[in-house]
Amino acid sequence: MMGGLCLSASGQSRGALDEHARALLAVASTGDMATVNHKYVGPGSCSAVACHGGIQPRMSTKVLQNEYSTWVSQDKHARGYAVLTEPLGRQMSSILKIGPAEKAQRCLVCHALSEPQEAKAREFDASEGVSCESCHGPASAWLGPHIQASAQHVDMVKLGLIDNKNLAVRSEECLSCHLGSARKDMQVDHEMIAAGHPDLTFELDSFTAVEPPHWVEKSKDPLFGMRAWGVGQAVQLRESMLRVARRAQSGPWPEFSEMDCITCHHSLTGPESWRQKSGYEGHRAGDPPYNLSRFIVFRHFAGEIDAAGDQELGREVGQVAALVTSMSPDRGAVEAAAKRAARTADKLLGEVRDAQYDQARTERLLKVIANDADAISRQGERAAEQATMSVDSLYIADMKAGGPNAATRTAIDQLFAQVKNPSGYNAPMFAAQMKRVAATLR
Ligand code: HEC
Ligand code: HEC
Ligand code: HEC
Ligand code: HEC
Repeated sequence: MMGGLCLSASGQSRGALDEHARALLAVASTGDMATVNHKYVGPGSCSAVACHGGIQPRMSTKVLQNEYSTWVSQDKHARGYAVLTEPLGRQMSSILKIGPAEKAQRCLVCHALSEPQEAKAREFDASEGVSCESCHGPASAWLGPHIQASAQHVDMVKLGLIDNKNLAVRSEECLSCHLGSARKDMQVDHEMIAAGHPDLTFELDSFTAVEPPHWVEKSKDPLFGMRAWGVGQAVQLRESMLRVARRAQSGPWPEFSEMDCITCHHSLTGPESWRQKSGYEGHRAGDPPYNLSRFIVFRHFAGEIDAAGDQELGREVGQVAALVTSMSPDRGAVEAAAKRAARTADKLLGEVRDAQYDQARTERLLKVIANDADAISRQGERAAEQATMSVDSLYIADMKAGGPNAATRTAIDQLFAQVKNPSGYNAPMFAAQMKRVAATLR
């Protein structure tokens, strides 16, 4: 059995800001963040009680000042390094023959703040895991200025602080580790997964609730969660297209982790097989299809915002999927098609970012997704997972905007049960439960 989704993010408080995205479609790596002026100082520099190491949150100050305490005691990122030394990390080290994982840059790129000597302003150790500057950027230039009463966020960003208030930038930052990035060749491939690494799935709004946040979103927008969901979806589609483009350039091919995992990893059910009954729509029986989970749910939102853009995106992503699914495509053709689709996804990201978010739109979208139960369910377990996280996020956003419905909550909780055991995933059962969600929506 493979690890399932255990993220029921119901009811947690969430909510803040957003606007612009970096168009980095040249696929040129953004390279290391550290430059001559921007060096890493290590999390110890943030942990004093008067800085971010308070035990209780403060309400009178600009920020809570207990961020370090929240991170170190509740946030799994603080354990990012430690897990490399535990039994699963050891097992992976031995299967992959990379020596101790906690010394392998291949693992440390995502599991710790592991920087070369020349990028460090002070001595610190990677053993503190994914720490403050892993997400906030190298602090040497802004560490002093940011504690001034007059400090403005925009000025700090010029000094190397990552603009996490911008949801597109934030998503891209999370996804560098939670999907992969050209930066420092960060990736989890099928070899690592077969050795024991969990598969990477992500949804910004749900994962933020689970982290848990050590900040208070300052946005007054009650539909902030929906915006985070929409922007996060657009960025992850773009980043997944860029990832398949990179993998088509070099490395093993086909790269199994680009495919729908569960087509290869389900148990054989004989005459009762729902797969045989559904007739393998869209691909030759027995071929593992490209994993469309990052597209299949988002497309409903894209369609609402820009019908023509959505058509174009559908054609382009469809082409990537058809090529990859054919098992032995021309790799250059995959790369070109994926870059085209990434560009279109980026264009839609701009529109999603600037879109109006209101309760009617949230409820419409919730319905459209829930009513697409059959098609989503047939795209496999990963698509079902994204749809589950998505309806959960949209439901919570809707609830905050004043549209609560307890029956919907119960039906969504039961939807999570359908994706708990990926190898036992059953499309008709998932679709039936999604239809129960739909039935509760007015
Ligand atoms: C592209 C970034 C990336 C790389 C490279 C990477 N990991 Fe991970 N790893 C993650 C993320 C993200 C998670 C958490 C996944 C989740 O729970 O959704 C994770 C989770 C894990 C876990 C499970 C931890 C737990 O709490 O159960 C182990 C063990 C692990 N990684 C080991 C390794 C090893 C060993 C390597 C090197 C061979 C490695 N990782 C390389 C991103 C990465
Ligand atoms: C996994 C990524 C991640 C890690 C690790 C992380 N942060 Fe954050 N942090 C965020 C995000 C995302 C936000 C919300 C966006 C924002 O307000 O800038 C945030 C917000 C904050 C804020 C509030 C900023 C404001 O203007 O309201 C502070 C302060 C902060 N973090 C400090 C820290 C400190 C100190 C550490 C290390 C102990 C840390 N963070 C570790 C991602 C992270
Ligand atoms: C530098 C790489 C890195 C970045 C950036 C990063 N993460 Fe992670 N994240 C990890 C690793 C590694 C783990 C696994 C740690 C462990 O299991 O102890 C993880 C685990 C998590 C988990 C726990 C998942 C679970 O299965 O319980 C959540 C939630 C999460 N990250 C959310 C976020 C969010 C939200 C952001 C962006 C604001 C983010 N991460 C940015 C590397 C990263
Ligand atoms: C094209 C078929 C195919 C696809 C798609 C595929 N795998 Fe695999 N997987 C394999 C094969 C073959 C093995 C090796 C089996 C063996 O040696 O017994 C394997 C091994 C594994 C293992 C270790 C086996 C075990 O018993 O624990 C895990 C875990 C795994 N894959 C997870 C995944 C995940 C997650 C995905 C999607 C991201 C995925 N696989 C996609 C074919 C596939």
